[in-house]
Amino acid sequence: MLVVKQLEDLFKATLLVLIIVAVVADLPVVVSGVDDVRRTDFPDTFVFGAGSSAYQVEGAAFEDGRTPSIWDTFAHAGIYGGANADVSCDAYHKYKEDVKLMADMGLEGYRFSISWSRLIPNGRGLINPRGLQYYNNLIDELLNHGIQPHATLCHSDIPQALQDEYGGWMSRKIIDDFAAYADVCFKEFGDRVLYWTTLNEVNVFTIGGYDNGLTPPNHCSPPFGIKSCSTGNSSTEPYIVAHNILLAHSAAVRLYRGKYKSTQHGFVGLNLFAYRPLPYTNETADIIAVQRVYDFYVGWFANPLISGDYPDIMKKNVGSRLPKFTREESTQVKGAIDFIALNHYQTVHVKDSSSSLDSKIRDYNDDGAFEIIYTDEDSPPGQIEYPVTQPGLGDILEYLKQAYGNPPIYIHENGQLTRRNATLNDTSRVEYLQAYIGNLLDAMRNGSNVKGYFTWSFLDCFELFDAYGSAFGLYYVDLDDKDLTRYPKFSAYWYSNFLKGKDSKHTALVDIEDKLHSSQ
Ligand SMILES: *[C@@H]1O[C@H](CO)[C@@H](O)[C@H](O)[C@H]1NC(C)=O
Ligand SMILES: *[C@@H]1O[C@H](CO)[C@@H](O)[C@H](O)[C@H]1NC(C)=O
Ligand SMILES: *[C@@H]1O[C@H](CO)[C@@H](O)[C@H](O)[C@H]1NC(C)=O
Ligand SMILES: *[C@@H]1O[C@H](CO)[C@@H](O)[C@H](O)[C@H]1NC(C)=O
Ligand SMILES: *[C@@H]1O[C@H](CO)[C@@H](O)[C@H](O)[C@H]1NC(C)=O
Repeated sequence: MLVVKQLEDLFKATLLVLIIVAVVADLPVVVSGVDDVRRTDFPDTFVFGAGSSAYQVEGAAFEDGRTPSIWDTFAHAGIYGGANADVSCDAYHKYKEDVKLMADMGLEGYRFSISWSRLIPNGRGLINPRGLQYYNNLIDELLNHGIQPHATLCHSDIPQALQDEYGGWMSRKIIDDFAAYADVCFKEFGDRVLYWTTLNEVNVFTIGGYDNGLTPPNHCSPPFGIKSCSTGNSSTEPYIVAHNILLAHSAAVRLYRGKYKSTQHGFVGLNLFAYRPLPYTNETADIIAVQRVYDFYVGWFANPLISGDYPDIMKKNVGSRLPKFTREESTQVKGAIDFIALNHYQTVHVKDSSSSLDSKIRDYNDDGAFEIIYTDEDSPPGQIEYPVTQPGLGDILEYLKQAYGNPPIYIHENGQLTRRNATLNDTSRVEYLQAYIGNLLDAMRNGSNVKGYFTWSFLDCFELFDAYGSAFGLYYVDLDDKDLTRYPKFSAYWYSNFLKGKDSKHTALVDIEDKLHSSQ
């Protein structure tokens, strides 16, 4: 009830604001193409959706044969102050309700991930029939509602069994196990899933997991850890892990192309996180450092996949700590990508720190010789939300277009950060979506080959860095309610109206006002 009341107040207040705004004519347009962005401006074949990942929403962590992933272990070690995703949004049991919400709001696609340890509890070998059933049910439910499934095979959550057995991504043994897991997914689900992503945010996974220790599996070594770690080597492990990831990814792509592509006709990509980096000053050193940020974050994975080897600057700065591709590996990796999936949230500023190359013990940031700075413009003081005045998605897309020959791209994550609490008035999320989708349209009109856009996230879920502290959802999930009721935020209504072709913000709000009245 409280929530309904809030929503009602919200829209009364917003309508009032709109009336006032209408009187003040000729408001400055901050970002081009934004105010009038429409679904019909994008191709029919383009897909708009929202996303999630297995550990972050499923819950049922110990049910029906699932075993822990490295993320369960990380959470249960108390790193989130006791919070974990044992239950989270309980999407394992509530998938029908969720798919109904997606269909009602007009989502065209849903990006989810498969929990490896739910499907194959020991990491390799026997398939868990109840895991198989769950993903079959979810995929069928989506398709029955006309929603395109986009599946990720691994979203930071490899089976703990493989971490224990041979050190997970630190061992080359994972390449065969990952390919075998991918084979099961392609075989079982590939008749219905056409869009596959092998691994999510591989650069963040590698840096967070093996350099600063902030994310699973929490490896790092002094002086580089931000969290404390019991094991690791920040100078070497990130590069070894990234190398094994590239080999595992390309093994899965090769398998798909050899065994499934001709009958299933799907596509396999890899997901990368990217900031939009701007120079901290206009000094040449900072401008050159921006290129190093692109090379270290994006080129680390994209260069091998597009041209068969790491960027020259990485080979130079990392030296013997950077694994080398054999001729055969290079051939396997080169071209092993049908699309690049991109997660992007915000602009940062970049400062040269070439002096860090003088240190004897170096990590990834030292090797990159850059410092990432959040200026007041990137992250206004006292405000948790990302600013929306200068969306930089178009800049990254332009960079990818020029550096890599305009590859097909899916935006897999983009969304506004707020505190997770009961307010449904997420005006800043609506402004963010408008600004970024408008910016995306501008980039596409200038030739960028983008095929789809998924906002992060469908539901407020368990977040990577702070569990239930922050939220990105279109829907608020009340964790204190045993039914884990989902409540649409302003952004859910806005996105829905955008998708259904009710374009202007004004129309959207009048429509919501009607809905509120008719539901009373
Ligand atoms: C919703 O948020 C906007 C922007 O912060 C504010 O202007 C408006 O008054 C809020 N409405 C309610 C009902 O809180
Ligand atoms: C990390 O590995 C390198 C190369 O094997 C070694 O020289 C260095 O001492 C290791 N550092 C730690 C903290 O173990
Ligand atoms: C760098 O130069 C550009 C173009 O002259 C200007 O818009 C920008 O504000 C400058 N940036 C800084 C940090 O001085
Ligand atoms: C929710 O978080 C925002 C931003 O931190 C804050 O302004 C607001 O008061 C909070 N609302 C509740 C109900 O906690
Ligand atoms: C549009 O594309 C052209 C060709 O790639 C490029 O030179 C130009 O900078 C792009 N414009 C923007 C705003 O990115």
